[in-house]
Amino acid sequence: MTVPKSSLALPVPTVTICLVLLHSCSAQLRAQLGTTPNIKQIVVGRCYNYITLINPRLRCDCEAIWRQFEEAVMRQSSCNVTMEDYHDMFNAVPQSWPCDRVSRNETSNSQFLFWSKTRTLMHSYAAVVRDVWTLEDTLVGYMFNDLIWCGQEDDSGFDFSSCPEWSASRHHPVYSLWRQASQNFAEMACGNITVLLNGSIVNAFSRKSSMFGSVELDGLNPQRVDYVNIKVVTNLEGPHLESCSQGSIVDLLQLLQSRGFRWTCSDNDQTLMILQCIQDPQQSSCQTCGNSLLDRKGLLSVEDSVGSGEVQ
Ligand SMILES: *[C@@H]1O[C@H](CO)[C@@H](O)[C@H](O)[C@H]1NC(C)=O
Ligand SMILES: *[C@@H]1O[C@H](CO)[C@@H](O)[C@H](O)[C@H]1NC(C)=O
Ligand SMILES: *[C@@H]1O[C@H](CO)[C@@H](O)[C@H](O)[C@H]1NC(C)=O
Repeated sequence: MTVPKSSLALPVPTVTICLVLLHSCSAQLRAQLGTTPNIKQIVVGRCYNYITLINPRLRCDCEAIWRQFEEAVMRQSSCNVTMEDYHDMFNAVPQSWPCDRVSRNETSNSQFLFWSKTRTLMHSYAAVVRDVWTLEDTLVGYMFNDLIWCGQEDDSGFDFSSCPEWSASRHHPVYSLWRQASQNFAEMACGNITVLLNGSIVNAFSRKSSMFGSVELDGLNPQRVDYVNIKVVTNLEGPHLESCSQGSIVDLLQLLQSRGFRWTCSDNDQTLMILQCIQDPQQSSCQTCGNSLLDRKGLLSVEDSVGSGEVQ
């Protein structure tokens, strides 16, 4: 914001200018946060895409899911949609989970992937590791990924011009849907699960403010889950704030232990490091890694160590 210097000497015009600027600025900001345009077409289209191309064994009525969704959002004022409001919608969504397939052996390689504050890396990881299931691979996760929505106070439609901030209310319509979806996802998790945590921030494991700590962890069932494999990953350039033996992750390990989970924790997973280096090969910590990748033996030894599992 550049206010002409001369006007700073005159209090009244300065205030006016600032108010005008602030007003137009916040209007712009809020406009970006309104309901995603064409949301109905996107949601219903993604649903058909999912049940036609991605998982043709799934049978469901995409239009009915949309109607239930719309009803949940419209029933309440924009700031006040609870997880319960979405129950009818979730009931209309059939679930197909890797562990429900015929035999356990058939699925022993698929793993559920959880993450917190590692979204970009999680996407690369999910793209290269086979048979990984994330929330975004479920029908609901796939349909609503990256969308924003809210209703209007006195109207029956979506508010396309502005929605409250995600953090503005405990019952934010977007937040409540993801909470419920996350809870369902965690309750269904089986076999080995992987958790990607960000060691470059304080409270990599947050019981209060992360979906993993506040919802998913409580949904995991030690009877269904064989191993919780935690991978702590820091930015290549640091800082290195938390690890398997430092900070909030220690609390997580204690919690898992007390609930009867078997777990592993690794601080320097090689697959993740390679993925980070592909994004940013110039980093000094990637130089040696890159060189060894060039020679055949180096590549083989990397693969071996990935296959041999984690450091406890
Ligand atoms: C939110 O909705 C609940 C019922 O779903 C209602 O009891 C409560 O008064 C509402 N709160 C606000 C602030 O609208
Ligand atoms: C599950 O995780 C444990 C511990 O990391 C590992 O030993 C085992 O091989 C994994 N099982 C599968 C099927 O990936
Ligand atoms: C860790 O979190 C910070 C801050 O949100 C983010 O900038 C960084 O990309 C994250 N690191 C990884 C490896 O995901």
